[in-house]
Amino acid sequence: MARSFQFDVDSVVEKLNRILQMELAAVIYYTHYSFMIYGHARIPITSWLRDNAAESLAHAQEAGQMIMRLHKRPALGIAALPTTPHNTIDEILTESIEREEAGVELYRELLALVKDKSVVLEEYAMRLVSAEAVHLREMELMLMKRAPE
Ligand SMILES: [Fe+2]
Repeated sequence: MARSFQFDVDSVVEKLNRILQMELAAVIYYTHYSFMIYGHARIPITSWLRDNAAESLAHAQEAGQMIMRLHKRPALGIAALPTTPHNTIDEILTESIEREEAGVELYRELLALVKDKSVVLEEYAMRLVSAEAVHLREMELMLMKRAPE
């Protein structure tokens, strides 16, 4: 059954598929990082990284559901996984922040495509932009070496 939408379905699905693949790559990254933590912070940071992996999987699943609701096919595959050397928690956090910034940008681009055109997709994109932005600010705080002025 063909349905009509106020937005460009193909562009929205293309964006959702990029989000799906980015979130699946984040599951792999955070799981990998969780193995690589040593020193005093090992237990809390390992658990925090695993929570991030679980949250990324939930985000991937939500993106896939959104694609299905548009009667389109979710992509099979994940975004590229470039390997960069990361030997310290600071390096892992810095790399994570860069990837999360690229991720929040995808949600912002989705928001621009659906704004005032779909309550469901607009609410979804806004909620994820907000969640990812808060997450990013928390990661920046984790990298700070002293209290703010
Ligand atoms: Fe996410």
